[in-house]
Amino acid sequence: MIQHNRAPANSVSADPAKTYGVAFVGSGSAKLEAVLSNAQLAEMVDTSDEWIATRTGIRQRHIAGPTDSIRSLGAEAAAIAIAQAGLNPIDIDLILLATSTPDDLFGSACQIQHELGASHAVAFDITAACSGFVFALVTAAQFIRTGAYQNVVVVGADLLSRLTDWHDRRTCVLFGDGAGALVMQRCEGSADHLLSFDLHSDGSLNDCLNAAYERESVPLTGDITVQKGRFQPVTMNGREVYRFAVKRVPEVLEKALFYAGLSTHDIDWLILHQANQRILDAAAQRLNIPAERVVSNMAKHGNTDAASIPIALDEWVQSGKIKTGDTLALSGFGAGLSWGAAILTWGK
Ligand code: ACO
Repeated sequence: MIQHNRAPANSVSADPAKTYGVAFVGSGSAKLEAVLSNAQLAEMVDTSDEWIATRTGIRQRHIAGPTDSIRSLGAEAAAIAIAQAGLNPIDIDLILLATSTPDDLFGSACQIQHELGASHAVAFDITAACSGFVFALVTAAQFIRTGAYQNVVVVGADLLSRLTDWHDRRTCVLFGDGAGALVMQRCEGSADHLLSFDLHSDGSLNDCLNAAYERESVPLTGDITVQKGRFQPVTMNGREVYRFAVKRVPEVLEKALFYAGLSTHDIDWLILHQANQRILDAAAQRLNIPAERVVSNMAKHGNTDAASIPIALDEWVQSGKIKTGDTLALSGFGAGLSWGAAILTWGK
């Protein structure tokens, strides 16, 4: 546990007469050591590096080590993002954790809060699978724009290896583990850096992609029964999800751009959930965004669920490709089904 003895720097107080905006001031991601290559997967199931690479763009993925957890990796990513923002953990008012694989079903955000020593922050989890990071970012913005909170950390962390059926070649080649984080800060309303967003859900398509709780009724006493069971590994209708993604992702981005009063020419970087290179290519083509402005790191990481957007964002920030003032278009999509987009300007 990191110890912080400093007094809180922020006062979580808002002037009701003022309007507030959001700035994006820091990013971070956790380093995972173990790498699982396509060649290694081909020793486990009937697949090949060639099939995986041509159908998905994925070459390898990281797998959490025996002592890694959502708590440790989420806190590692958050600590880097907080330091990059020039803040201390004690300055943080709110921690939102987007995850579908918490260490504790009651939520892991509080564990991250404790690990960081962010003792002034309220912390809770948000579950929206691969859309989770965008949904959490937009949720954070609501708390900031009302003036309620000044410094917010949004963490996207998932260990999909926990929910993967390693005998199912249709899914096990896709997923990896990871954690990324972003710090959002209150600023003047006139300087709001979150230009627009658009979020959607369609529960009628839930069967296309889920990790369902399968249960049976077990007698308890008299005529009372209780449900006993466990969460099943991820099952996915890949073709349906693919069709859904290539239709909905460009659509939601076009809508968000319209709300922002921008066109695709104004986008410096398109950062989509890293599910499949073919989905990225199809969306970019439909939006007429050149490949060199599309962020892609799935060859290295695979699909890391809620972590994929913040990891990609952080890698592009750390390498200096994303610069202060750049306009970013983010879009997450996946289980729910759910999908959403946010258009923002990077920096203070
Ligand atoms: N290796 C070799 N062959 C395989 C593999 C594999 N790993 N997986 C499937 N195949 C076979 C199938 O059995 C099928 O063979 P058949 O024609 O003899 O039946 C053939 O390859 C084609 O299968 P498709 O499912 O049609 O393959 P497709 O080109 O659609 O690619 C994929 C599959 C990569 C899963 C694609 O559908 C996809 O990316 N879908 C979207 C996934 C996604 O975006 N998920 C996002 C959210 S994830 C989340 O929210 C947690």
